[in-house]
Amino acid sequence: MFNRGWVTAGILVFAAAALFPFYRHLLGEDRPFPQLELPAGEKRCVESKEFMRTNHMRLLDAWRNAVVRDDLLIYTSQRGDEFEMNLHSTCMGCHGTKERFCDRCHDYNHVTPPCWDCHVAPFEGPEVRGQRSEVGGQGPRAFGMGGRS
Ligand code: HEC
Ligand code: HEC
Ligand code: HEC
Repeated sequence: MFNRGWVTAGILVFAAAALFPFYRHLLGEDRPFPQLELPAGEKRCVESKEFMRTNHMRLLDAWRNAVVRDDLLIYTSQRGDEFEMNLHSTCMGCHGTKERFCDRCHDYNHVTPPCWDCHVAPFEGPEVRGQRSEVGGQGPRAFGMGGRS
């Protein structure tokens, strides 16, 4: 009655089609990496570009915990520069644009951080930096993220 081979083939074709959304990215959509707008007149991020590229989410998470749980305000980078641990005034104050920087890369990578439900994203142009305090002094090592000493 039924041809086993055809039934199996049919099931496989159906499964392949149904699962397409889940492996589509493995086929390597031919999308060029988007152009990211970097802050004019700034050469350095909080940490190195390589560190930021792979660790910015962990850094932000560590910043949030430090501020909200431990009442700390200041992050000292590996280079010894001090930054207020604040998503809005520090990260976005320098980067200035969420859409042409964060979003472009996140869209490319299919990630949607939920931060902006609460945190205010900039419209355009750098904001005035928040006031710094003398408290704190956390480097990436203090948050268990390695790096040079
Ligand atoms: C003082 C200005 C400044 C601040 C503050 C700053 N950035 Fe940056 N950021 C830069 C610059 C400039 C670059 C490009 C660095 C380079 O090309 O070496 C950069 C690079 C990056 C990159 C890597 C982009 C890429 O091409 O891979 C990420 C991710 C990033 N920043 C996120 C953040 C986050 C998150 C924060 C807050 C925790 C932050 N930045 C704070 C200026 C800043
Ligand atoms: C060069 C690409 C790139 C840029 C630029 C970038 N991100 Fe990301 N971001 C990623 C990737 C990729 C992930 C997902 C990493 C993962 O899931 O391990 C991510 C994840 C995150 C997460 C964690 C999301 C979650 O749900 O866990 C936060 C928060 C975040 N990014 C904030 C920012 C902010 C704020 C900026 C802009 C200042 C920014 N990112 C710029 C690539 C980037
Ligand atoms: C439900 C609302 C909410 C969401 C969603 C949220 N936050 Fe926050 N966040 C807060 C509040 C409230 C504070 C405390 C502000 C303060 O103490 O001044 C805070 C503080 C922070 C701080 C330290 C101080 C500051 O204002 O920047 C960082 C860094 C931070 N959050 C990062 C993130 C990141 C990254 C995400 C996304 C992965 C995120 N938050 C998502 C509500 C939120």
